[in-house]
Amino acid sequence: MVISIASDHAGFALRKIVVEHLGKLGHTVVEGGATAGDVPYSYVLAGQKVAKDILEGKAERGIVICGTGIGISMVANKFPGIRCALCTNEYMARMSRQHNDANVLSMGARVVGSSLALGIVDAYLNEPFDGGRHQTRVNDMKEQEKELFK
Ligand code: RB5
Repeated sequence: MVISIASDHAGFALRKIVVEHLGKLGHTVVEGGATAGDVPYSYVLAGQKVAKDILEGKAERGIVICGTGIGISMVANKFPGIRCALCTNEYMARMSRQHNDANVLSMGARVVGSSLALGIVDAYLNEPFDGGRHQTRVNDMKEQEKELFK
């Protein structure tokens, strides 16, 4: 799978750990965002990068990381077509796929440790979308986007 991942400075160290993990799993990684953990980089730019990669077809899924995961998920979710789920545990990651067909995962590097983060990533990547009544709700979200952004 092609995965776009980006972070601000607060998420830099965790991003590197996640990128290494994704590489070991055989995924193709498109990486962007901060170039160091001690050089400020806006989570807005990082969130925009991943959202655009997905909407432009350069990646199938995205992962965004900032300090809390909050700001960067807000940015990603402002793009019509992006369903970004901020997850702090593996259950949320599984449900974000089963029920919400999340195409972007958000995590907070100051919230989850690296071991939990990798568990969240695995749960997010491995869980299929349930479809059925959940497809109807996702379709409703898409209709809402069309209404709001026409
Ligand atoms: C950076 O200090 C911090 O504000 C950012 O990483 C994030 O937590 C914002 O939501």
